[in-house]
Amino acid sequence: MALKNDLLLKALRGETVERPPVWMMRQAGRYLPEFMELKKKYDFFTRCQTPELASEITVQPIRRYGMDAAILFSDILVIPQAMEIEVQMKTDFGPYLPNPIRSKKDLDRVVVPDVEQSLGYVLDAIKMTKEKLADEVPLLGFAGSPWTILCYCVQGQGSKSFDKAKEFCFTQPDTAHALLQKITDTTIAYLKAKVNAGVNAVQVFDSWGGMLSPEDYEIYSWPYIQQIVDALKDETHVIVFGKGCWFALKTMSQSGASALGVDWTCSPQNARYLSGGQITLQGNFDPSRLFSPPEEIKKMVKKMIREFGKDRYIVNLGHGILPTVPLENARAFIEAVKTYSEG
Ligand code: CP3
Repeated sequence: MALKNDLLLKALRGETVERPPVWMMRQAGRYLPEFMELKKKYDFFTRCQTPELASEITVQPIRRYGMDAAILFSDILVIPQAMEIEVQMKTDFGPYLPNPIRSKKDLDRVVVPDVEQSLGYVLDAIKMTKEKLADEVPLLGFAGSPWTILCYCVQGQGSKSFDKAKEFCFTQPDTAHALLQKITDTTIAYLKAKVNAGVNAVQVFDSWGGMLSPEDYEIYSWPYIQQIVDALKDETHVIVFGKGCWFALKTMSQSGASALGVDWTCSPQNARYLSGGQITLQGNFDPSRLFSPPEEIKKMVKKMIREFGKDRYIVNLGHGILPTVPLENARAFIEAVKTYSEG
């Protein structure tokens, strides 16, 4: 079935549009009162693992604001969980992995799972979400980049520096690469299964790519993302978002990805220049700027669109929406795009 609103797919194909499409990273969950209600009743992984709940949380922001794309409610850490690395989500703390990977022996217990079996609940959630969306807007699937997943598997929790993850790579590079490859193999199978279940495009989140030097990025992150793009690009559109990874935009632009995410530390002009001016870009509003008054948000969004250009562009934040953003400010962001016209 053709989508009623295919602005996002047009932008991913590089076609001319009347206005750019808009969605917000981490739009599902986090800040909506209707989500908070469900959060009170069900713990995090129950929400992820129950297709009825995951699909409901996915469509909530679409119902409220009418973004041009939905992103499936889930988490990047369902991958290590499926690989039999225990992951807990602790209240007011975030992810906690009680048995982190720190040695070859630890690596040996990590499995490359049958994704249809271990992550079948995600595939069911996709099917249920597609029914609820009724072809109104496209549905995005996602995964963490192998490097970003390794960060959690080794560090065991969130971190400002991911120092233990980096130490592991630099002292046991062979083991690190073997872990990255296991994650990559799982991720490719997972994203392919998501495409078969009905997602219209996928985004790879390299949230911690910017922790690496440009040289180490080429060793520990990029080659594995490239494998994912190579494996998926003939089946769907791949969006690569690397937080703090402006230095890799040129490499990324030559990868076969359909679009590249940009954060707010890189200007639109510089992002266009670094990525060669042809590829679709996505971003890059500072999520904290959603605390500005709605009128100011609207002005800033229109300026951002003029600077990126309306074509080959997907309006988004430069990272996930913050949980405390006022509802009317999120609305101002979306409305500014939907009412955008040239001239
Ligand atoms: O985009 C969406 O709205 C879809 C849902 C989504 C979640 N996590 C739900 C979630 C997506 C795309 C993610 C990706 C994710 N998860 C990333 C990459 C994107 C980014 O922000 O960099 C990362 C690094 C994670 C790991 C993770 N999950 C952390 C660090 C935390 C705790 C802090 C936080 O973000 O709240 C989570 C938990 C999590 N994932 C929540 C939600 C709605 C909040 C916990 C809860 O609802 O109980």
